[in-house]
Amino acid sequence: MKQFGIFYGSTTGTTEEIAKQLAKILGIQNTDVHNVAETTPSVVADYRTLILGSSTWGSGDLQDNWYDFIAGLEAMDLKDKRIAIFGCGDETMSDTFCDAVGKIYDRLQPTEAEFIGSFNTDGYHYDHSDAIRDGKAVGLILDEVNHPELTATRLRQWTSELN
Ligand SMILES: Cc1cc2nc3c(=O)[nH]c(=O)nc-3n(C[C@H](O)[C@H](O)[C@H](O)COP(=O)(O)O)c2cc1C
Repeated sequence: MKQFGIFYGSTTGTTEEIAKQLAKILGIQNTDVHNVAETTPSVVADYRTLILGSSTWGSGDLQDNWYDFIAGLEAMDLKDKRIAIFGCGDETMSDTFCDAVGKIYDRLQPTEAEFIGSFNTDGYHYDHSDAIRDGKAVGLILDEVNHPELTATRLRQWTSELN
């Protein structure tokens, strides 16, 4: 079984680009970076750790391509898997910043996977995010719209704690 598989959904390419950067940092091959629009959920069986990425759309919604994929994951027993979530959003959508990260977290709780990769919220500015639980984000949250200059550091910090 391989250690890491990345599964992302991306409408305008931002989360896709972050998925590629994560792959580079973690030494993950391109063939282990999957667009959920073109992947069947059963592929997750190949990996010990699933790195799941979604941007947030609408008003706090999952990226469109995630709906079928996450329904597939929900139906699986993932108790031997680890899950790390990342997401791209826009802090000016101040009541729903990166909500998709929290939505994936909530929906996959019943799979009994182990969740890793919580992240501190220092340096973020928004009113509310579903991604925050007990003062910490349940995954890596990024704002490539307003603060792309912060992304490289955040990626380094987050990935350093994933192994
Ligand atoms: C119509 C629209 C709605 C959006 N809604 C949200 C939102 O509720 N929360 C948020 O954090 N970002 C929101 N965003 C920002 C996107 O998540 C952000 O641009 C992201 O980088 C897009 O990533 P993608 O190209 O991978 O899909 C929205 C953007 C648009 C255009």
